[in-house]
Parts: sequence; C-alpha cells; structure tokens
Amino acid sequence: MSSVIVVGTQWGDEGKGKVVDLYAEDADAIVRFQGGNNAGHTIVVRGKQTILHLIPSGILHDHKMCMLGNGMVIDPKVLIEEIRYLEKENAFPPNTKLILSDRAHLIMPYHRRVDAAREAAKGAGKIGTTQRGIGPAYEDKVSRVGIRVCDLLDRDTFAEKLRRNVEEKNFYLTKLFGEQPVDAKPILEEYMGYADVLRPHAADVSLLLDEAIRQKKKILFEGAQGCHLDVDYGTYPFVTSSNTVAGNACCGAGVGPTQINSVVGIVKAYTTRVGSGPFVTELADEIGERIQRVGQEFGATTGRKRRCGWLDMVLVRQSVRVSGITGLAITKLDVLTGIDKLRICVGYRTESGEEFATSVPADLNVFERCRPVYMELDGWTEDITSAKRIEDLPRSTRRYVDTLENLAGVKVVLVSVGADRNETIVTENPFRR
Ligand code: IMP
Repeated sequence: MSSVIVVGTQWGDEGKGKVVDLYAEDADAIVRFQGGNNAGHTIVVRGKQTILHLIPSGILHDHKMCMLGNGMVIDPKVLIEEIRYLEKENAFPPNTKLILSDRAHLIMPYHRRVDAAREAAKGAGKIGTTQRGIGPAYEDKVSRVGIRVCDLLDRDTFAEKLRRNVEEKNFYLTKLFGEQPVDAKPILEEYMGYADVLRPHAADVSLLLDEAIRQKKKILFEGAQGCHLDVDYGTYPFVTSSNTVAGNACCGAGVGPTQINSVVGIVKAYTTRVGSGPFVTELADEIGERIQRVGQEFGATTGRKRRCGWLDMVLVRQSVRVSGITGLAITKLDVLTGIDKLRICVGYRTESGEEFATSVPADLNVFERCRPVYMELDGWTEDITSAKRIEDLPRSTRRYVDTLENLAGVKVVLVSVGADRNETIVTENPFRR
C-alpha cells in the first residue's frame, strides 16, 4: 500500500511523532497538510532532544522528500530556525529534500499580535491558543487577503499585500484592542530576507506528489493536532483553525481521495488536552497527577501542563468514523503500569437522560453537562517496556488493548510500550501489507 495518513484521534499530543518517525523509514515522501508551528514533535539529534514544530518528523532519514503542504500556515522565521538548527547539528541528511508548497499561507507578525490580543481580551473565556498566530493566518486565507509563499518570492506583490493588510490589522490592533500598531517597513525587509532562504525550497507540492505516486513511491501524510481539535468536528470553538481529520490530507497536500490506501489513527492509552474546553473523563485527583507526571504530559509548544484523564472511547469512535480510520496505533501504554484499576469511558450521559456512545454532542452546553459511563478493568504492575509481541504483554494489558480494539471496531496495528524507538510492538505495517 503506498499512501498512508496518520492522524490523532483525541485532542493532539497522542505521540504521533514516534509513529510517523517509524513509518517514515518505509516512506519516500512525508507530507504535512495542515496547521503550523502550533504543533510540536520531539526528535533526538545525537543524544540531544529537540522539538521541531514545522518540519515533518521524517527529516532525520536520508533519501526522503519532506514536504510542507498548501494547507499549512508557515511562520518563515520558525522554519528557517529549524533548517539552521538541523544544518548546525549536521542533522540534515544530504539526499533529503525539504519542499515548501508555494500555495501555503504565511504567518505574519500581525497574526501573532492579533492572536495574543484577542486571547487577552477574552479573559476567562479564552481558547488557550498557542499564540503562534495560527487562527488569524487561517482567517486571512479564508477572507482571501492572506499572503502566500509565492507572494513572498515577488517583492512588489508582497509589499502591496503587506501594505493593505497592515492598514487593516492596525485598525483592529489600535481601535479594538488598544494595542500599538505594526510598521510595514521592517516587516518587508525581514520577510525579503526570508524569501532568499526559502526560494530554493518552494515548489508545487501537488505536482511532485503526483509524480511520486505515478512512480509507485510511498507517501506518508502526517497529521498535526487531533481529530477533536478539528474546526468542524472538534469541540468548537475550543479547537484549532484547520481541519485535522484525515480527509484534509487530500486538500492540504493536493492529492485526490482515490490515492489514499489507509488511515492510521493514534490513540494515547489515556486522554489529555491542553488549553480550554470540555473534557468528560478529566481526572482532578492523584491518578490524573500521576498520569501527568509519569507520562511527562507537558505541551511541546507552550510547556503548559496537559490536563489528563481516562481513555474516552466516545472521542475515538467519532474519530474512527470521521477520518475513516483503518488501523489504530496505541501509544504510551506503559504510562498506565502500576494503576490498580483502569477505567475506559464507553459513553456519556446527561442528567436529562441524553446518551452518546459513538458521537460527541455538537452543542458545547450539552457537552459540558455530559458525565462519563465507565467500564472498569484490572490494571497490571509488570514492566511492559521490553514486550516485542502482543503475546508478551501481561493478560490484563492484553485485555485493555482488546477492549479498546473492540470498542473502536478497528484493528490495532501498533502498540507503543515506551519512549524509545524499539519499545514498540508492530502487528501490521501499513506500508508492508
Ligand atoms: P491554536 O492552534 O494555537 O489556535 O490553538 C487552539 C487550540 O488548539 C488550543 O487549545 C491549543 O492548546 C490547541 N492546540 C493547537 N496545537 C496543538 C497541538 O499540537 N497539540 C495539542 N493541542 C494543540
């Protein structure tokens, strides 16, 4: 099978980086199709841990095409910092190409300013964004005033679009938020410097992918965030500003749905969320604290502590449906080791008797009133990090995995039992089916 999409089934931070890195070994091209530097994945370069926000996780492998699709919003400063870092560490493989879609939209300094000002103005009702300017950049894209990579490559076009945008954004910044205005001139010079660096990387990603698919190359589409941060299917408005579900791999990279062979959904063995919004299985007790501590649940982009709770299968079932997931990868199962009794949420119920089992309510007022319906399973105390096959896992761990698989109605293709690359049980590799 040649084209695989990987998406998160929860609220992001499911451990996609490790799975993508593993599958990248078999892929010829690794493509991101949405989001921007609100995402973060941890990679280890010569024993040193670093967090990349834009460049796909496949960058550490040689002979790959690492692509940033048209559906992304790119902060050129961050992208260039990541390129420089990899070069400095001699970690940019000589035959791997980094390709940036000429249709991707740019994050501008005023996007970051509007993001921060708007969050501050919302006070307690804030979304808890990463303040990277993601939402305002997507707003400009949809209102057809955005500035794209192809504009950056032409000084006159860029200067004119910048002038018009700065005029409008300064109105918001000063009149609505009481902030200082931005000055177009230094932005123009700063961005023209970025243009020189990024020019060799800019290309038509869709065209390159088409060629690769014709040559029977293997393509890995790397989703960022998770299905419940999707702007349509997530807990709106506590979501990100892009479509994070698998279908957007097609729009955001420029391939047709007929080219996709499988979709792997990443399920963390428990649930976490950063930022505000409903969270039915959230644990405000010592088990929640324990999961947070053992699982090192801190936001990779903002460093914020992640909220933690039991595995919520209502979320996962909706993701399976909306993203057409064909295989599940369970991550961080080892974090649950040592907890006496484990709970899995199999449904929601409100005090007025409404029930949800396979879909989450659209109305946030209803969502806030949902209470979890749990099933309880025995935990395990054995160290599972050296398990290489499902059969190596203790009986109660296998029961947890089987229960998850049965509730999702989709087979498990991978189980991660530790942070290390080789602490992984692969039952089926989507590229080697
Ligand atoms: P934004 O994407 O910065 O606009 O943030 C919107 C919401 O999505 C906030 O709740 C963020 O915490 C959340 N978010 C954005 N990116 C990620 C991610 O990569 N992992 C987890 N949460 C994220």
